[in-house]
Amino acid sequence: MRTIIEPFRIKAVEPIRLTTPAEREAHLHAADYNLFKIHADDVLIDLLTDSGTAAMSAQQWGALVTGDESYAGSASWFRFEAAVRDIFGFGHVLPTHQGRAAEHILFSVMCKPGDVVPSNTHFDTTRANIERAGARAVDLVIAEGLVPSARHPFKGNLDVPRLEALIREVGRERIPLCMLTITNNSGGGQPVSMANIKAVAGVCRAHGIPLYIDACRFAENAYFIIHREAGYAERAPIDVAREMFSYADGCTMSAKKDGMANIGGFLCTNDDRLALRETELLILTEGFVTYGGMAGRDLDAIATGLYEALDPDYLRYRITSTTYLGRHVAEGGVPIVEPPGGHAIYIDAAKFLPHVPSLQLPGQALVVELYREAGIRCCEIGTLMFGRRDPVTGRETPAAMELVRLAIPRRVYTQSHIDYVVEAVLAVWQRRETLRGLRILEQAPSLRHFTARLAPLD
Ligand code: F0G
Repeated sequence: MRTIIEPFRIKAVEPIRLTTPAEREAHLHAADYNLFKIHADDVLIDLLTDSGTAAMSAQQWGALVTGDESYAGSASWFRFEAAVRDIFGFGHVLPTHQGRAAEHILFSVMCKPGDVVPSNTHFDTTRANIERAGARAVDLVIAEGLVPSARHPFKGNLDVPRLEALIREVGRERIPLCMLTITNNSGGGQPVSMANIKAVAGVCRAHGIPLYIDACRFAENAYFIIHREAGYAERAPIDVAREMFSYADGCTMSAKKDGMANIGGFLCTNDDRLALRETELLILTEGFVTYGGMAGRDLDAIATGLYEALDPDYLRYRITSTTYLGRHVAEGGVPIVEPPGGHAIYIDAAKFLPHVPSLQLPGQALVVELYREAGIRCCEIGTLMFGRRDPVTGRETPAAMELVRLAIPRRVYTQSHIDYVVEAVLAVWQRRETLRGLRILEQAPSLRHFTARLAPLD
């Protein structure tokens, strides 16, 4: 088989700059060992997130120029609404400035204190928005989804018997909606099968519980269904996407992922009465119904980008390049979440650094070391992000997994950039015994990983 190449050529370039080890040490110190506080100019390869970091296409840049900035009823809005309706198929489309704004509106309107919202795994902003509404966010991913080395084609699946047990335990009336995150970001970028979407939708329908999809990486999920699930091999990504959403009552979307845009999002629902209440809140917090939190040009960039994300050549390159990174570090011995996910490779930091206990933040220790080694920035998804600190006793509970995410921006880095990342990860792997943990000096009560101040332990 021939090399799978980047299915694009590069028209505009952005220089990146290698720093010296001494400069990186100083930057780490100044940032309190929290990579969110490092200046992006001091990063060589930025794998912090795949969110809002995509390279837009010439068509998208062109669409920015023709974007219509009319306050009400702009042409850009109608193009956006038509694209979202065409792919997602829901009756009401509410434009928001990004995914979490859609979540905020959805949960503010649907949840009350004491409610319970199940999902395969809630993303951190989703969980925080549910908790802010006084409800409880419950993760019900299948058992394999919590074992990094376990191989399962759809490790993002929701455990249906556990969903049924939860409904029996707390009662249908306390569950205002059920969510499914596709792909499952916090669980390793793992996909959810069509069979699982159907099964979850079936249980929800039987109990009258609306099902919402957190659709951020819907195109990548569709690709995995085509390649891993019987009966889909000949289907086009757009058809598979349409089928996925046909089982749901609505969705939240961050267009910063598979919208191929640098900002934007939306909330969809089929429920007319709910849409009315959501619209009130939309106007109050985001903007008028035909632009939400976006400029007209953003609406156009997304209307174009949603289709580009579903292009079969793009998706093949996208998933292949993520797998390439995963395979090459795994062949060198590095423990990763298997199989490689869609948008990112997740290193199992608990196995990488077995001598660093969870409460000493092995994931963050690895994140810091990759920056120190090679100017690569990535993100801890472990005890720093998901550990819990009891506000009374100060006792820490570790997260279920200690992962480090190398998220790959869409269409931004070439194969040689990825080869450089492989070399750096393997170099750190060779001297892993020398790495030490970190302690938290200062933290916020929620979403602490963004602002925490840390210090090395020795
Ligand atoms: N849901 C999922 C599954 C996400 O991954 C994100 C964002 C959101 C919701 C919120 O969307 O950022 O537009 O408000 N994930 C980014 C990440 C931040 O790095 O994974 P947003």
